[in-house]
Amino acid sequence: MSMSLNRRSLLAGAAAAGLARPAGAAAPDFGPVGKPSWSADGPQGAAAAKGLAFGAAVPSNLLNHSAEFRRILARECGVLLGNNEMKMAVVLPEPGRPDFAPADAIVRFGRAHGQSLRGHALVWHEALPNWVAPLLDHASQGQAEDFLRRWIGTVAGRYRGTIASWDVVNEVLAGYGPVHRADGLRETPWLAALGPDYIDLAFRLAHETDPRAALAWNEDSLEHAFDWVEARRVRALKRLEGMRARGVPIRRFGIQAHLVGDHPFDPKAFRRFLAELGQFGLGIEITELDIDDKAFPADPAARDRAVADFLRRFLDVVLDEPAVLNVVTWGLFDGDTWLNDHPDHRRRDGLRQRPLPLDEMMRPKPFREALVAAFRHAPDHAATRARLRQGA
Ligand code: XIL
Repeated sequence: MSMSLNRRSLLAGAAAAGLARPAGAAAPDFGPVGKPSWSADGPQGAAAAKGLAFGAAVPSNLLNHSAEFRRILARECGVLLGNNEMKMAVVLPEPGRPDFAPADAIVRFGRAHGQSLRGHALVWHEALPNWVAPLLDHASQGQAEDFLRRWIGTVAGRYRGTIASWDVVNEVLAGYGPVHRADGLRETPWLAALGPDYIDLAFRLAHETDPRAALAWNEDSLEHAFDWVEARRVRALKRLEGMRARGVPIRRFGIQAHLVGDHPFDPKAFRRFLAELGQFGLGIEITELDIDDKAFPADPAARDRAVADFLRRFLDVVLDEPAVLNVVTWGLFDGDTWLNDHPDHRRRDGLRQRPLPLDEMMRPKPFREALVAAFRHAPDHAATRARLRQGA
């Protein structure tokens, strides 16, 4: 591809999403915030009684097409987000055809049901439309910065005033395996185009666009007791220290919590990490909770018990930390888990995973009981929530 073609597509891509919309332009009207729809005896009811909130990441197509699903979403959740809807690959599959319909559907539903909304995720190395990576590859730093500014301005601008917390960056630390950079950052098209400052820049751009949203760094692989995970926790804290010194407008830290049944969990080490995050003055969110049950028995009852036990062990540690604000599962019922589609997570016996609060028929499982019990057992978080000015 020639440089001029790339420059043209970059600009076309930017203009594509209405990316030229001036900052401060009116966002669409997503309707009034409705009365809270959740039941007092469900997970959100139990969470709210302790100043916490519970919710799930869900697909808009289910929400659009299943009345049963809408009913359980309204009943169970106080926090909602689309699992893919605000990712660039969904919004900008090709330059010139922005599609906000899936994300709008989530935002409308959440507002109408008095739920608090999360935005996921502005800057990620996955879910990039296939025209974007080559484009970033050829862009000058100024062009790449301009593209990022327009992208964040457009998406965060469209939902300005509706999103309680935004995952500004997602999975920025290098994962399992050799770490090539001294700063431990993952090597991504964003890093290559913009250098390591892309993280600070993304936060500043998101803050300019939606100053009231609590901005989050969302990160994977921080939960289990492996040396390489401990090294990532240290790297995360070190980077947060730097971000704070540089005045980066970060208010939340998102811990994904894709737990794996037979991976070791060290309550003390994890509790310490949460305390250290809290000491930065950050609110903590568990953002993508599910439990891979690959290592657990085939028998559904035994498996559900093992999953629920692990969940309770994890949540008792998590909810002990006052800075924790929200617990969000990645899907609400087993029929909608991503784990069956992922080669690392698929069960070897061919059975489908049971990693979530409700079963494939949307009936409550021991997971949900353990969730409710953990919230009931938790200390009251209301004062910290108020202090962290969480809002809804
Ligand atoms: C997943 C979605 O659930 C899938 O539908 C999609 O195919 C891939 O992405 N970490 C994240 C989420 O931050 O955005 C991912 O979501 C799961 C892992």
